[in-house]
Amino acid sequence: MRIDILSAVPRLLDSWFGESILQRAQGKGLVEVVVHDLRQWSTDKHRKLDDYPFGGGGGLVMTVEPIHRAISELKAQRDYAEVIYMSPDGQLLDQPLANQLSLKGNLIILCGHYKGVDERVRERLVDREVSIGNYVLTGGELAAAVLCDAIIRIVPGVIGDEMSALSDSFQDGLVAPPAYTRPADYQGWTVPDVLLSGHQGHIDAWRHQQAVERTRQRRPGLLEPGE
Ligand code: 6GU
Repeated sequence: MRIDILSAVPRLLDSWFGESILQRAQGKGLVEVVVHDLRQWSTDKHRKLDDYPFGGGGGLVMTVEPIHRAISELKAQRDYAEVIYMSPDGQLLDQPLANQLSLKGNLIILCGHYKGVDERVRERLVDREVSIGNYVLTGGELAAAVLCDAIIRIVPGVIGDEMSALSDSFQDGLVAPPAYTRPADYQGWTVPDVLLSGHQGHIDAWRHQQAVERTRQRRPGLLEPGE
């Protein structure tokens, strides 16, 4: 799987993808993330990417041409399953969406800035728009990093213990049960006996019951069908 990210501020993403689990995933050849500076496709003499909005009003709008040239050039090099535009009014990212996208082929992710992109980009060049939550960020870069992290960590082989990605919060529609490690007694703060019992059936049942109870208390919406 290859993810190409188009950004007016690529430096925001370089350090993120140069570190951590994502680095390891790329090292193993499981995923490749390539961050591009949209300015390389600008034909303007100042490498400009934005312009004043027709009809007036504040803010600048990212122009069609560099984005169109970037997407066309990438699509001429390989097949892409989707072009995704990061936008606060897009489809809300959740675990099922991350799962779905992790099974796709290559992706192009476009990050907007300023007052967003010319609407014709959204109409003609973008297949899907994704938001990471109901709040506004200054640009799509952080949102793109969040989306990539959620996608990449569930690609098989990326996380060492494959069980751990599947037993995550949300993966089965429940939040995660509580976890404990040594010591079993820290200054009188003890661990539930069942976890020390060695009886895996009882432990699994306890964890499931805790996950259901926590979901009811913290995220009742997850238990409702269609949420
Ligand atoms: Cl995808 N972009 C921006 N600018 N703000 C956001 C967002 C995206 N998702 C939530 N807030």
